Amino acid sequence: MDMNLGAGAGTADQAAETGLVVDRVVKHYGRVEVLHDVSLGIEPGRFVTLLGPSGSGKSTLLMCIAGFEEVGAGDIRLDGRSLRGLPPEKRDFGMVFQGYALFPHLTVAENIAFPLRIRGVGRAERESRVRAALSMVRMDGLADRLPRQISGGQQQRVALARAIVFEPRVLLLDEPLSALDRGLRAEMQEELKRLHGELALSFIYVTHDQEEALFLSDKVAILNFGRIQQVGDPATLYSRPVNRFVAGFLGRSNLIELSGRVISGVFIADPAGSPFAVPPRLEAPGRDDGPCRLTACHRPERAQLAAPGEGEGLALDGEIAQVAYHGTTLEVALRLADGSAFHVSLLNRGVLPQRGERARVLLDPGSLVPLADG
Ligand SMILES: Nc1ncnc2c1ncn2[C@@H]1O[C@H](COP(=O)(O)OP(=O)(O)OP(=O)(O)O)[C@@H](O)[C@H]1O
Ligand SMILES: [Mg+2]
Repeated sequence: MDMNLGAGAGTADQAAETGLVVDRVVKHYGRVEVLHDVSLGIEPGRFVTLLGPSGSGKSTLLMCIAGFEEVGAGDIRLDGRSLRGLPPEKRDFGMVFQGYALFPHLTVAENIAFPLRIRGVGRAERESRVRAALSMVRMDGLADRLPRQISGGQQQRVALARAIVFEPRVLLLDEPLSALDRGLRAEMQEELKRLHGELALSFIYVTHDQEEALFLSDKVAILNFGRIQQVGDPATLYSRPVNRFVAGFLGRSNLIELSGRVISGVFIADPAGSPFAVPPRLEAPGRDDGPCRLTACHRPERAQLAAPGEGEGLALDGEIAQVAYHGTTLEVALRLADGSAFHVSLLNRGVLPQRGERARVLLDPGSLVPLADG
């Protein structure tokens, strides 16, 4: 039997792995640690997005996966085999990077054929694969143009076609749409989603645009300062953020300080003598009995706006400080007695709340999400 005990061999557990696994990766630039113990699984065929603010380490992680950067500690494996020491061209990953320009002197078709050419694919097969890739990104008919003769969005499509033409296992995309205007960006997002549906490919997508991440992904990993804060599907991340960072980064949120006590793992808030239970945190539920304080997040669209004195239950009174008109929705900021603002998002039903009016927000205790610091 051919036993491989070299760099590619793993443990029995790892051999059972499928897909790409980032396992406790640490990365330094000089003496600065920019990735701290990052772990992430990318199951076959998934659309996984790395989302985080500028400088959080998204591109660095992608570069480590691609093989352009070495990891300091930890490992990156594909189907249980370590990729350590394997150069980028042997990793079988397609790449679309921002500024990963097309060759200006090659036509669209020649650009797309390039990865096939360097892999020694014969002419007839090359031509048929280029045709298929062109039609996949809806660029048939523009094969003979030079990059400067097509639009920015079309150039991105060619870059995509070039990245998928050799049928890679994984497609890595680093902010591929950031140079495009809003309309084109939305169109390309649809296109990416369609492409992902048609190809049996894992996508690892980097963006700092939260809406883009929520729209495109099966799974999102939120990074801050080189650390993964939370990984989950978009709905879970949005409705159950685990800490202040995730709550604030992904959509708008109101933070509320509550005092109460934890009884059998459930936090019972007790504002003004009408206690209610706060749903437990996704991770690390509180266990200690006794009085304590808790910070919870409440999404703006889960609150209701009412007239002063109206409604029952958990309510906050204040004055309307701002009404932002967005067409479909109204974003209302209520200034509370302590000077803080509470944001409410309403469907536009034609009645505009007026600045300076007294109003009340009615909270939904079931929508409160307890947060950890961070
Ligand atoms: N070649 C390098 N040498 C030294 N430090 C680097 C290098 N590349 C990146 N860094 C640092 O590593 C950290 C992570 O950078 P990275 O490019 O991964 O961030 P990012 O999340 O992709 O940000 P952006 O959204 O701005 O692209 C930053 O603090 C950055 O300054
Ligand atoms: Mg980057």
